[in-house]
Amino acid sequence: MHPFDPGYAHTPYADLVADYPGTETYPVKDFRIEWGPIFHRGRLDGSARVLVLGQDPAAHEAIARRILVGTAGRRFQGFLNKLGIDTSYVLINTYLYSVYGQHAGNAHAKDPDIARYRHRWLDTLVTHNQIEAIIALGGLADTAFHTWRSNPASSPYDGAYEHILHPTYPDSAAASGTDPHVAMSRLMANWNGALTALSTVVTPDAQRPLVPYGNTFTAADLGVIPEADLPPGLPAWMRSDEPWATRQGATPKEKRATITVQIPSGQRPF
Ligand code: URA
Repeated sequence: MHPFDPGYAHTPYADLVADYPGTETYPVKDFRIEWGPIFHRGRLDGSARVLVLGQDPAAHEAIARRILVGTAGRRFQGFLNKLGIDTSYVLINTYLYSVYGQHAGNAHAKDPDIARYRHRWLDTLVTHNQIEAIIALGGLADTAFHTWRSNPASSPYDGAYEHILHPTYPDSAAASGTDPHVAMSRLMANWNGALTALSTVVTPDAQRPLVPYGNTFTAADLGVIPEADLPPGLPAWMRSDEPWATRQGATPKEKRATITVQIPSGQRPF
């Protein structure tokens, strides 16, 4: 049997996905709207106890049509697994579309039109689940959470909140000059602190001893993206640890228009 994500056929999610914002809300110069909105990953059946706010989809997400399935997703899936949360989660992003350009993410952090649609998702998810904790990945998600919290409609939510460093913080910090080891240690310390706090408030799917991170991610720290989180029929290599989607092109426009998908060499049945 191959479990799969049944998608958005039923209310309230059918109404939400039918009514997604486009270029009138997400400017083409700041978002890769041409790859379409990517809404979520995880449970929409009322069983989520952890609600996660990520940042924006990247190349892998544009193909798999679910969020946080690439490097960031696998790192964070491991975080959830350490908490004993194997299935009872739902993930949405701050932005429906991939951010284009360095400043676009910050420029739209408090954009009221973008927030309005995001708030509809947050309100719906906390109303239709028993959410015990909301986790924001990175600064933009933290701003998105507090923007929602300042809104009276969010007041029924009385669970915990943790803002943690984004799963790819070590990569972006290293790219802007921080010592890679320092950046990775910061992430590990930050995530270990959050695990300790969250383990007291989140009811696990599976009881397991809390194993903290060491100096860096080990293979065991990376979670496997469950087959049940993706649309039916997606091949297993789309959930593998090897990258399989990259933006490519000789010019910025070509690169924006092109995602190359390649089956990782170790995953080919031929
Ligand atoms: N992919 C996502 O969908 N969200 C993130 O925050 C990072 C990668």
